[in-house]
Amino acid sequence: MSPNVAESNGPPSDSRNPVVKFEHPNCQLCTSKNLPYLFSKIRHVETVPKDFEFYSLRLMKLIAEDALALMADKEVDIPTPCGTWRGVAADPENEAFAVSIVRAGDSMLQAVRELVPGIPVAKILIQRDETTKEKTPILYYKKWPKNVANKTALICDPMLATGGSVIMAIKSLLEIGIPEEKMIFVNVISCPEGLNRLGREYPNVKVVTGMVDPMLNSDRFIVPGLGDYGDRFFGTVE
Ligand code: PRP
Repeated sequence: MSPNVAESNGPPSDSRNPVVKFEHPNCQLCTSKNLPYLFSKIRHVETVPKDFEFYSLRLMKLIAEDALALMADKEVDIPTPCGTWRGVAADPENEAFAVSIVRAGDSMLQAVRELVPGIPVAKILIQRDETTKEKTPILYYKKWPKNVANKTALICDPMLATGGSVIMAIKSLLEIGIPEEKMIFVNVISCPEGLNRLGREYPNVKVVTGMVDPMLNSDRFIVPGLGDYGDRFFGTVE
């Protein structure tokens, strides 16, 4: 497995924005020049839910566009009013469906649905058990759309910490016949622990992430992170 080095996409590296290393053969970072601004908005502890929702949706759409770009890889001639341009198109055989890891995944799902209206949606309710030391995830519910066997799964969850939740979702997708190669994990903040684990266990699942933070703390929260994404997006925070 070839190591990947993630440069902080924020302002120039210093002790607070260190270069972060991780190992994953199929992970790419969103490259938008506006990531530092949007991350500054959503990471700030005083950003209220209304603004968190607004700025994080802007950010998630940029990340989701990069994930969709992975599917538009078929070269085609595009007739313009004045000539022909060599462009790309999504393979009609390679349609997508979205998989929201509820609850926070519903925020990324919202971004994906605004970019791909009518995309079929699967919901899988997975929650970390915060009473356990390892924050083991628990699966409560899942519901698949019909006829997804040949489609690409866009797995939506803005946070990747230990990797337990997304791995549980990947296992469920494998059970219904979706191969690793047809899964794309669309994520806002990740960390080396989660990426390394995903890279070891499911190296062919593609990951598109906004930023790789340096570490998890002893409670398995991403540091510096932004707190609980679901609570901040849905306003269930004091
Ligand atoms: C958060 C987050 C991910 C998960 C990441 O969800 O949205 O689903 O934790 O952690 P992991 O990589 O260690 O599994 P949480 O279980 O807190 O539920 P929520 O979506 O309701 O916030």
